[in-house]
Amino acid sequence: MDIAGKVAVVTGGSAGIGLAIAKALADAGAGAIVIGDIDDTKGEAAVAGIIDKGAKSVYKHTDVSNADKVRALYEEAVNNFGQVDIAFNNAGIMLGEPGWPDVGIEQVGRVVKINLLGVMYGTRVAVDVMSKTGGGIVINTASPAGFGPMPNDPMYSSTKAAIINFSFSCVTLQASHNIRVNTIMPGVTDTAILNKSGDGNAPAEWLQPLLGMINILTVEDIAKGAIDVIEDDSRVGEALSIENPAETGGEVGYIRLKDNTAFHERALGR
Ligand SMILES: NC(=O)c1ccc[n+]([C@@H]2O[C@H](COP(=O)([O-])OP(=O)(O)OC[C@H]3O[C@@H](n4cnc5c(N)ncnc54)[C@H](O)[C@@H]3O)[C@@H](O)[C@H]2O)c1
Repeated sequence: MDIAGKVAVVTGGSAGIGLAIAKALADAGAGAIVIGDIDDTKGEAAVAGIIDKGAKSVYKHTDVSNADKVRALYEEAVNNFGQVDIAFNNAGIMLGEPGWPDVGIEQVGRVVKINLLGVMYGTRVAVDVMSKTGGGIVINTASPAGFGPMPNDPMYSSTKAAIINFSFSCVTLQASHNIRVNTIMPGVTDTAILNKSGDGNAPAEWLQPLLGMINILTVEDIAKGAIDVIEDDSRVGEALSIENPAETGGEVGYIRLKDNTAFHERALGR
């Protein structure tokens, strides 16, 4: 997809990876970027930064765990800019303290609703909206954490695993609706979510040894991977793992995973 002139919706776009992706879209010539987030102050600042780059932008307060609010976010995009071409379902949280299994049951549901249902709601509405204008691309933010156990925060790792599977399962939307659905899986990246794994001021104790061992990625590293996926129309049903330089010999690495199971091939009618 040529990003020039396109309209994008980015959830969790007030800060961190979502903000970097919103800025990278503006740098790539996107016509308009609609930010949905719950941090209104940072959201309005994000919009100002995007407008400075020459794109149009609006912010809408959106809790992605609420399907009606997610629909309203897309309606805001259509009302302002006529269509949506790029949907970035990116908002996500970690469990925070106390970790598993001491966490309160409400927080268990909160993580699942934001991380997983938020992605499902966003994808569902994107299908409705994009179908009216001939298609588009959906990118969902998962994590390499989705591939392994995470004893202190299994809500995070299991919702991320589910996003990978959900997005693989949406591959048929390309044939049926001309909508490419892909996943990005950022390695550990320097954002506020690291402190949110703990008490908000510092990473959780269980995470700190890992952080001391690795080179942490920048949000720009992740945005570059996302832009590559958007621009390359051949990439569909893919989960892009954006790897730590320390594990790839000094450069940011990309591992492209694709669901090529026989079942998947049958689902595609091949
Ligand atoms: N930073 C990492 O190391 C890392 C690694 C892998 C995956 N990820 C994923 O990347 C995504 C972005 O995380 P980040 O690292 O930029 O974190 P971040 O905390 O910097 O940004 C998350 C954004 O989501 C927003 N948000 C939180 N709850 C929301 C809700 N209910 N509705 C709408 N917006 C909400 C926050 O206000 C914030 O702006 C998340 O899905 C996260 O799981 C991050």
